[in-house]
Amino acid sequence: MPIRSWFPTFIYCEPLQATPPGRLNAELADECRKLRDYDAAGRRWSKKNYPGGYTSYASMNELHRFSSTFATLEKKLTRHAQAFARALDMDVSSRSIRLTDLWVNIMPESSAHSLHLHPLSFISGTYYVVTPPGCPGLKFEDPRLSKFMAAPPKLANTRRENRTHITYPAKAGHVILFESWLRHEVPTQRMAAERISISFNFNWS
Ligand code: NI
Repeated sequence: MPIRSWFPTFIYCEPLQATPPGRLNAELADECRKLRDYDAAGRRWSKKNYPGGYTSYASMNELHRFSSTFATLEKKLTRHAQAFARALDMDVSSRSIRLTDLWVNIMPESSAHSLHLHPLSFISGTYYVVTPPGCPGLKFEDPRLSKFMAAPPKLANTRRENRTHITYPAKAGHVILFESWLRHEVPTQRMAAERISISFNFNWS
């Protein structure tokens, strides 16, 4: 073939562990809800910046340091991040990959999380704790979208690698990882039950 693909964008999606994480997720869900009850500063911040929902992003974002449940999750996530970094051919063998921030997101009906990226980290991701059927997934945008300028629209049956957006379903027990510069959003939550996820950032040294 005269055409080869260069500069691809990789997204990682795997179950957190080989066995169903029922007990871990039940404990995480419980702690997430307790945190919302306890974290008045986070609720105030969310009111302004995370309309309709609750996030501990700006108030309690090092949960792995204070809770053994979140620390257990940290250990498991770190193994996934190492695998992802290796798949990206990053030279991390002699360097350590470290989870720096980890925070909770609770999305009731009508909440949404608009397009954003994760500064000050190199790998970011989300772990899904509670995902009611029909709740929104994680929608990624082609990082070159602003550079397409005069490109014609894509065909309805566009091949996977030529699409401009991709939505990964939110599935309890699954981890999604991406490079932190990749913009993403969560469309509006339309289900009556709460969707609970845990987001995190990794850095290296
Ligand atoms: Ni995000």
